[in-house]
Formats: sequence, C-alpha cells, structure tokens
Amino acid sequence: MEISRREFVAGGAAVAALELAGCGHVRAPGTPATPEVEPLRLVGATRGILVGCAVQVRHLRDDPAYAALVSQQAGIVVEESALKMGPLRPSPTEYFFADADYLFEFAKKHKMKVRGHNFVWHEQLPNWFDKYVTQANAEHVLVEHIEHVAGRYAGRVHSWDVVNEAIEIKDGMKGGFRNSPWLKLLPGDGIAVPGYIDIAYRTARRVDPKAMLVYNDYGIEAEDEASAKKRAAVMALLRGMQARGIPVDALGVQSHISAGSRLAFSPEYAYGPGLRGMIREAHGMGLKVLLTEMDVNDRKLPASVAERDIAVASTYGGYLREALADEAVIAVLTWGITDKYTWLDYGLQQREDKLPQRCLPFDAEMQAKPAFFAERDALDGAAKRNS
Ligand code: XIL
Repeated sequence: MEISRREFVAGGAAVAALELAGCGHVRAPGTPATPEVEPLRLVGATRGILVGCAVQVRHLRDDPAYAALVSQQAGIVVEESALKMGPLRPSPTEYFFADADYLFEFAKKHKMKVRGHNFVWHEQLPNWFDKYVTQANAEHVLVEHIEHVAGRYAGRVHSWDVVNEAIEIKDGMKGGFRNSPWLKLLPGDGIAVPGYIDIAYRTARRVDPKAMLVYNDYGIEAEDEASAKKRAAVMALLRGMQARGIPVDALGVQSHISAGSRLAFSPEYAYGPGLRGMIREAHGMGLKVLLTEMDVNDRKLPASVAERDIAVASTYGGYLREALADEAVIAVLTWGITDKYTWLDYGLQQREDKLPQRCLPFDAEMQAKPAFFAERDALDGAAKRNS
C-alpha cells in the first residue's frame, strides 16, 4: 500500500524531513516488502553491484522468517563471527566449522556469494591465544590457520577480509598501526608494513587464488579530523603493500556510520568529500571498494521512531549516493538486515535509553523501513558497473 508523504509523517515530523531522507517511495510502516517490492539483491544485480548483509547462522537455523528475509534480499552474505579465529578455534588443534559450513550450504541453495571475515583481527581471538602463541611460533600459527580455513573453502569465497582493523592512530605507533597482539608477535622489520600483514596476504593468495583479498577498516568514513587521519594511514598502508608486491585487491570500508542529532546531519558526522576522495584514490590504485558492514547508529537521536526512521534513512541515502557515485564500489553489505538482530543493541554501541536501535533496512517484524527504500533508491540511481 503506497501512502502519501503527508499521511506518513502525520505524527509531527516535518514533510521536509522526509524529503531529506530521500525516500522516493515511502510505504506505511508495517507494509510487507514482498512480493511487489523488488528485493535489494535484484536492484543491485541490475547495476552490477553485489548487495547483501551479515548474518547469524544461529538465527538462520531458529528463525524461519529471518532466514526467508535474508534469502529474499541478499545476493552476498558474511557470518558475523563464525569465521573469526576465536569462534573457529576452540583449542590449538581443533576447528569448529559447523556454522560456517551451514552458511556456505545456505548460500549455495539461495544462489548467494559468501564473504570471509576474517583471518587477522585483534578481537575475538581464542582464549588460548595469549598463552600459546609466541614470537617463535606466531608465523607458523598464522600461516597454518589461513591454510586450513582458506583451504577448506577455496574457490567458494567471493572475498576475504584478510586483515581487519590494523590501524589505530591513538596507539601512537609508526604508520598509525594498531598495537595489536599480532603486531607484537610479528612486527616485521619496523620499516614498512608489519610482518603479519605481509604474511597473511601472501598466504591467502597462495591458498585461494580466486578470492578477492580485502583490507577492511572502520572510522574512515566521516569528515572529522580523526577520520581524515585514519583514512590517510589506511591509504598509506595500501600503497605500501602495493609497492612491496603484497597481493591486495580491495578496500573494505566498514561503514558503521551514525545519524546526526535531530533531523539533519551534524557537521561532525557528515559524509562527503573525505569518503569520495578515499574511494577515488583507491580506484586510481586499481583497487575495488566494498562497503562491508553498513549500519546507522541512532544513539544521537531522540526516542521517536518516526524521527529516527527518517534520519536513519536520510543517512543511508546520503552516504550511499556519495559512495556509489564511484564505480570502484562493487558491493554493499549491511551488518545485519533486520533490527531484530544487531550488535548495536549491546555494549558501547547501545543507546543510553536502552531502546532497540533502528539501524537496519528492516524492522524487528521484518518489514521494510524508510532505510530500505533509501538504500534501494541509491542503488537504483547508481551507474552500471562493468566488472
Ligand atoms: C561484531 C559482531 O557483530 C558481534 O556479534 C560480535 O560480538 C563482535 O563483533 N567490526 C567488525 C565486525 O569487523 O567483526 C564486528 O562484528 C563489528 C565491528
């Protein structure tokens, strides 16, 4: 049921706000997205853009409505945690592949591509990691890990986040590198990129030559100074890798972004020239760009659902239009698909009032929100990719 803008915003929010949200075709909240609405994966496909989301296999198993929504909307999926070293490695000699295997089967059944996330990260490491891994055996542990995991799924992975989040300016290290456990274990020669990065990418290429190899990071999207510094360090890392002949094919821009206060962007969180410049630079270096983990945190917004939905949609639309204007951007994944399951409801990401976040394209009842239409319209407006 298509409703007028005025009806939709009855409840107080301004019509102008809806214009801002860029919602060309607004539906009543609660209107099912199917069957008459074209799913995101199809809209993307007509533009040569892969569209999908992160999933939790646990809920693919226990929540049929969720599984149906994912299969309908996503042309590419990634498991939120199953392929991380901690969840995958209960002990130094055991691997737990059941969840990842389930996802590969699910994806095959529904003709989806799968992303791998990730080989190297400073978080979600196994609990045995600190005691077991030393400078003496670290290279062996890393190489063996990648051989085993990349090897199992070789030929079936669209792209691997080989290294995740290696830059953290405030750690004060040369090159802006994060002072992570991996850096301490495998620092390299201290001149160029840390040793672990070099090793991880070379091993991944050798074991699964078909997978696109991605460097993935966050905090590089916005216009503030901290983001600009981090962007510069990430691009320097990538240039260094290329100069050293390290196989890297793409930049993963996580895109955990934030809706500004009230109905407009706050300058601090506006997305524009910095993002565009970074993507252009990556493009010029021959890299592809993937938006790998998009969601829009609404913790700066008041409780009103109508206001949040409009501002979140506006942020989706504005951000995606900026990013998709460059043809190097070949994939868009949201970090989840329904507000029912989002990491933003936990820990530091949570709203102060503890209300559930409205950060994803579908609500907790699996109904399309304005954010869905904003994403769809941005995809619709993108130029067709050739590759
Ligand atoms: C998050 C998952 O969504 C959570 O379920 C888990 O508890 C912690 O990790 N950047 C990343 C992702 O690269 O791996 C993170 O995923 C979100 C931030």
